[in-house]
Amino acid sequence: MLDGKKVLFSGMQATGNLTLGNYLGALKNWVSLADEYMCFYSVVDEHSITVRQDPAVLRKRSRALLTLYIAAGIDPEKACIYYQSHVSAHAELAWILNCFTYMGEMNRMTQFKDKSAKHADNINVGLFAYPVLMAADILLYQADLVPVGKDQTQHLEITRDIANRFNNIYGNVFTIPEPYIGKAGANIRSLQNPAKKMSKSDENPNASIYLMDDPDTIRRKFRRAVTDSEATICYRPEQPGIMNLIDIYCACTNKTPDEAVAEFSGLGYGQLKEAVGESVVELLAPLQQRCAELSKEKSYIDGIIKNNAEKAGYYANKTLRKVHKKIGFPERIR
Ligand code: TRP
Repeated sequence: MLDGKKVLFSGMQATGNLTLGNYLGALKNWVSLADEYMCFYSVVDEHSITVRQDPAVLRKRSRALLTLYIAAGIDPEKACIYYQSHVSAHAELAWILNCFTYMGEMNRMTQFKDKSAKHADNINVGLFAYPVLMAADILLYQADLVPVGKDQTQHLEITRDIANRFNNIYGNVFTIPEPYIGKAGANIRSLQNPAKKMSKSDENPNASIYLMDDPDTIRRKFRRAVTDSEATICYRPEQPGIMNLIDIYCACTNKTPDEAVAEFSGLGYGQLKEAVGESVVELLAPLQQRCAELSKEKSYIDGIIKNNAEKAGYYANKTLRKVHKKIGFPERIR
């Protein structure tokens, strides 16, 4: 708890171009969560270097992501929006937690297995210990809640295990975080294969709508979206492509699937795709415009970066000092 509010932590990586799935599934909800909770939203650049990055590109994308958080409507005075690398306590606590995490536990992480298969030439120790850094992110702020997608639930589980292990040895140091299960973010799937989630790392550019796609590109990708041969617009698992289009439409327009199905009844797939494409264009246009405007306000963004790094650092270092004391590091002489 901070100032009578529960603490919520989440982070995103600035690698790849963010998709409509990232926005509707996560970022859009972050905005309203900030009304209710004390939120820390990090651009987790330290996680990004577990895969080789071009320095100039990483720097540019990190800034763009931080700007996007604000463009999406998160109030940077309320929620703490910051770069992970600006708060050195993340790396410091991660080191300590490494010493309370077992090789066997990390070996079981499915994302590590997937990523090491994908980057077989660079299976580095950081990639292996990635969930420990994530645990440090969360535990530093004594977060009560963490909104995570399905692919990160295993990492949150291990965070809880590490925190409990530490608390059992040293007393109550860390808050045990819970997954945030609220109004679930929309689960947006690939436009080319609705069995898969829409992903920024998909090789097929037609599978994903990128947040910075222009209107014509968006319309074209929806026209090419994979559907089925049923030729009827229903909302049911047997028609995953149509279901995905309806989910996207509903997330953009705040309608329910029933309302959408009624609206489209008797229409063809072509008309459905047109309407969904248009709803996405209408959703993204103001976001893109706001990003463009904000990216010109250099000193405003710089101010947010500086102030929020200090704010995050204040809370993080409080926890880190407590940890140091508990594990027996000598007190600093001031
Ligand atoms: N690993 C997360 C992802 O790739 C990002 C992340 C890093 C995160 N630290 C976090 C998410 C802490 C939630 C809480 O999606």
